[in-house]
Amino acid sequence: MTKETPPVCDYEGSDYQTSFWEEGGRAYEDKAEEIALKRVLPKSGKLLLEIGAGAGRNTPRYKGYERIVLLDYSRTQLQQAQERLGESERYIYVAADAYKLPFVDGLFDGATMIRTLHHMQDAPAVLRQVRRVLQPAATFILEYANKLNLKAIARYLLRKQDWSPFTPEQVEFVALNFDFHPKTVRQWLDEIGFDLQRQLTVSHFRIGIFKRLFPASFLAWLDSIAQLTGDWWQLAPSVFTLNQAVGETPVASAGAFFQCPQCGTSLEDTPEMLICSGCGAKYAIRNGIYDFREPVE
Ligand SMILES: C[S@@+](CC[C@H](N)C(=O)[O-])C[C@H]1O[C@@H](n2cnc3c(N)ncnc32)[C@H](O)[C@@H]1O
Repeated sequence: MTKETPPVCDYEGSDYQTSFWEEGGRAYEDKAEEIALKRVLPKSGKLLLEIGAGAGRNTPRYKGYERIVLLDYSRTQLQQAQERLGESERYIYVAADAYKLPFVDGLFDGATMIRTLHHMQDAPAVLRQVRRVLQPAATFILEYANKLNLKAIARYLLRKQDWSPFTPEQVEFVALNFDFHPKTVRQWLDEIGFDLQRQLTVSHFRIGIFKRLFPASFLAWLDSIAQLTGDWWQLAPSVFTLNQAVGETPVASAGAFFQCPQCGTSLEDTPEMLICSGCGAKYAIRNGIYDFREPVE
């Protein structure tokens, strides 16, 4: 089952949460995302998969879920999340590649992926993985970076940008950072087994002069109104989508949880490691983090 997967944008050792969010002047974007999430999150749920959880910035917002799996490729991001969120049985930390989710089919009744699809060179491959681990009728909240945003359109028309925001293909504006066309994302979601139920456009005022002139709370309030136009047009740099998994796909049997990312065999959870009876791979559990990045033996 092991096959080559695309490269990962590696956040190992990154101070992203501090430098980008806490000291990066992004209070407006954070607040606008909080508002959007509140609008699309279900009131309650059992087990949520947060893909690309990073340092857990959004995790406290998933209030209705009984348990949350924070999945990230970066072990240090997960360590920061552990420090920020504190000890709790509600959180399960998993270091793994989103292209090879280490979970049995039909395990989760919810998933979120915020500010993470934009690192995916092969977005449909990841979306297929997400659909595989979701139960029928599960909720999937996907945020993606929108190439068809007003700033990109203006820059293109003024010849300050060589790529067209109007064409369907993704654009890699920095290595392993991609903007997507809304129509293309909608088509992928549809083909992969998701019913798109709602779109919210977010961060309309992510422009230096607005952020210098107006307080973050005012911009977030304006954004909260503009978000509501998201089903009509998508011209903001970020789009939140609410989706429901459709199709008669399997539901995980009771007790089944992890599967080997190499061969797909369901894994037995032992106190110190997980051992695959299919291919013999062993995966470590270190300081409360299940580590599937590579087997220990
Ligand atoms: C921009 S950060 C966003 C973090 C968080 N979702 C937030 O909004 O604050 C992107 C995260 O995706 C993770 N990531 C990137 N590629 C990944 C992959 N292939 N598998 C799992 N996580 C990945 C990075 O390690 C990083 O923590």
